[in-house]
Amino acid sequence: IAAAAAGAHAQDFPGSKPVTIVVPFAAGGPTDRVARDLAEALRKPLGGISIVVDNVPGAGSSIGAAKVARAAPDGYTLLLNHIGMATVPTLVRNVPFKVESDFEYLGIVNDVPMTLIAKPSMKANNYKELTAWLAENKGKINLGNAGVGSASHLCGLLFQSATKTEMTPVPYKGTAPAITDLIGGQIDLLCDQTTNTSPQIEAKKVKAYAVTTSKRLSTPLLKDLPTLQESGLKDFQVTIWHGLYAPKGTPAAVTKKLNDALKVALKDPDFVKKQEGLGAVVASDNRVEPAEHKKFVAAEIAKWSPIIKAAGVYAD
Ligand code: MLT
Repeated sequence: IAAAAAGAHAQDFPGSKPVTIVVPFAAGGPTDRVARDLAEALRKPLGGISIVVDNVPGAGSSIGAAKVARAAPDGYTLLLNHIGMATVPTLVRNVPFKVESDFEYLGIVNDVPMTLIAKPSMKANNYKELTAWLAENKGKINLGNAGVGSASHLCGLLFQSATKTEMTPVPYKGTAPAITDLIGGQIDLLCDQTTNTSPQIEAKKVKAYAVTTSKRLSTPLLKDLPTLQESGLKDFQVTIWHGLYAPKGTPAAVTKKLNDALKVALKDPDFVKKQEGLGAVVASDNRVEPAEHKKFVAAEIAKWSPIIKAAGVYAD
């Protein structure tokens, strides 16, 4: 009877019950930005239901991801997370979930470049001058991040390793609070996604030095920023991607409806405009297929694990 009931539920999912998207970082940050923009675009294809964004920060996204891994597999609790799904298994000891087996993969959402930014009082006027500042201030540099396993943490670790500069990591519950402290001068540097840094760079509240992608960006605001590769860090390449997940065991009829709705949402002109205006690239075609999403995460785990280990950086 339970199976029949589950089957019936799956057919009329979502009905009028709200769907919750868990964001494993503080409100106002880049992960939250993607989730709220996506929630807006998912409402209509999910029949006009309300979609609640639930910020569950901590442990570089592990707390929020674990909450969804343990949630009822009924499609009403989803996870929006980023590259952390592929780096947390290497960076964090005793992760309270298994990325490959505790989730249903609902599709990739977007790709987001990162920018290397500094406090507004930073004297350096370009990346070359910044490297001189790094050398002069070895051992006194505070580098913000959103916790071990976060995107800013990954980028920061790789930047330290590539520039051979020891920095003090200052963890926050997300890069929204981190960038606030950067603007206030409490920390010196931050590597963060353009979805969060673009407005602050535009408002000249922070100083931007480079982008982490292999090619320069095309947004009017960021197109003149050099890549870290052309600035001398030859192998440096970090692009953050976001995916949508449900707990393992969510019925196929439900995950199909969610993936169908995601495909519609990613074509929503308002969603695309918002995301592209902040430097993000919205996923399309087969990247949004669950099978491709699962394959991509496995490939990212295989890619980042040796890079992280070669950089000699581990969790606390
Ligand atoms: C990260 O660094 O992982 C994210 O920027 C955290 C956030 O979304 O606040």
